[in-house]
Amino acid sequence: MTDFQNVIDKIHADLKDKVNRGLVASYIPELSNVDPHQFGLHLKHMDGRSFSTGVSQKAFSIQSISKVLTLAMALPLYSENIWKRVDVEPSGNPFNHLSLLELENGIPRNPLINAGALVVADILVSRLTNPKEEFLQYVRDLANDQTINYNYVVAESERLTGFNNFAAANLLKAYHNLENNVDDVLDFYFHQCSIEMNCEQLSNAFFMFANHGICTQGKHHLTHSRAKRINAIMLTCGFYDEAGEFAFEVGLPGKSGVGGGIVALLPHHFTITVWSPGLNPKGNSLLGMQALEQFTSETKLSIF
Ligand code: DON
Repeated sequence: MTDFQNVIDKIHADLKDKVNRGLVASYIPELSNVDPHQFGLHLKHMDGRSFSTGVSQKAFSIQSISKVLTLAMALPLYSENIWKRVDVEPSGNPFNHLSLLELENGIPRNPLINAGALVVADILVSRLTNPKEEFLQYVRDLANDQTINYNYVVAESERLTGFNNFAAANLLKAYHNLENNVDDVLDFYFHQCSIEMNCEQLSNAFFMFANHGICTQGKHHLTHSRAKRINAIMLTCGFYDEAGEFAFEVGLPGKSGVGGGIVALLPHHFTITVWSPGLNPKGNSLLGMQALEQFTSETKLSIF
């Protein structure tokens, strides 16, 4: 049996003092205050065991990782109609890229780039009575942790500087792919991105995707087929123009955020979350990618 504690402790020891650890995101001013030296991992296994190392209990901004959770909440509410409004192809472009959106008549390439996540946010704003409260409750239930919250300062910081997302939302609106006001959709989106969770909470929240769509807390199940599809989207689109590189180096479905978190999973086995705030030029955690590459190489546990 793999000694997961030993494996993640070794990864932590090997990488924790690396000098080249990327740059903390600064285009959302509030995120630039985070200490880049923090580094943590958490693994939750199907057999009930959990393993932690480093700074695994400190909450960080989940940012784009939230896009998987909004998609999981929207799918049962809007059903497969969602795929008429957002495609499932990798974009090969940065997360905030806009020109494809115009070329493809307002249908975003996939739900994990910003434009696609804005369409999913629009669906939740339409379908939920109190969208922000209900989405937060959904995340709390998935993680079985009622302490999880928005960071309103981060959400406001992004609203004040989120010109690219305003442009994306306006383009979507012009192509009749948003039902709600641009400001209402963006308000929801900036808040979903501002949610703070630690490595353990993220491993718990994503466990449903590794567990055939079944949330162990007994709430909010996904069908097996929808869990399969979301995992496929994470594999092909979870790292934007580095999705190929992540599949090549790591070989697991996963999702990154500019807060420096990465969640990855091996269906029917485990979820693993790593956090290191420094990003590589593509906006993915530099040490996080290296840690997961080392993990799948040493354990030989990947989908390939
Ligand atoms: O919309 C944005 O730019 C951020 N709220 C989220 C971007 C993000 O996390 C991309 N991930 N690597």
